[in-house]
Amino acid sequence: MEKTKLPRHVAIIMDGNGRWAKEKGLSRNEGHKKGTDVVKKITQHAESLGIEYVTLYAFSTENWKRPQDEVEGLMNLLRQYLKQHIKEAKRKNACFHVIGDRHGLPEDIRGQIEQLETLTKDKTGICINIAINYGGRDELIRASRKMIMALQQKGLKAEDVDETYFEQFLDTAGIPDPDLMIRTSGEMRTSNYLPWQLAYSEFYFTNCLWPDFTVKAFDLALLEYSNRKRRFGQSE
Ligand code: IPE
Ligand code: IPE
Ligand code: MG
Repeated sequence: MEKTKLPRHVAIIMDGNGRWAKEKGLSRNEGHKKGTDVVKKITQHAESLGIEYVTLYAFSTENWKRPQDEVEGLMNLLRQYLKQHIKEAKRKNACFHVIGDRHGLPEDIRGQIEQLETLTKDKTGICINIAINYGGRDELIRASRKMIMALQQKGLKAEDVDETYFEQFLDTAGIPDPDLMIRTSGEMRTSNYLPWQLAYSEFYFTNCLWPDFTVKAFDLALLEYSNRKRRFGQSE
């Protein structure tokens, strides 16, 4: 594929782990475990293609409403994922960044996140953003609070706020907006994912459940993206 037609940034809603497990007579947590294996394959593939940023929806602010053993299972998978990447950080070139409200996470996971971000901050390879305890509305509220404090401190006025000024308070500050958003499992909604950042992204929905998602299926999404005509409000 022509490099110019490749998205710089792909955001993914990895959905369908529970339904996949149910189909197979397995527990939801086994579905999530299979889902993490797929994360590794897809991010490695994206890196090999030269995609610069991948942003993965791992746990939403609404996912706390799930049964306690499922939430614990998901937190344990996160611990394992972070631990593995901390271990591999020296010999790999990926940079990791976590978006979402980390203050709401268990302290040990927060520690792992800080460690992984610090270890990989100067890496020059793919940037993997993981959305944990992430909700778009929550991000906008947190950003607004931070911005109001900054305005007060700097003696600035409401009129001084524009899109560029506001964006620096988002969790994604400094990261270009996603070009392509992929959601698996057939649901056609964004479920509170990146409402600001996806404003002009191309959406790709597939019925494939996340644990069944393959490198080939990812390439198909890239191919469809390459045929989209982005206008950004302009007329041709
Ligand atoms: C996505 O799979 C993983 C998370 C939300 C953490 P689901 O667990 O939502 O799977 P379904 O949608 O119930 O099949
Ligand atoms: C979105 O999936 C969140 C993640 C993939 C982490 P959900 O399964 O939580 O979303 P809904 O409930 O179908 O909207
Ligand atoms: Mg779901």
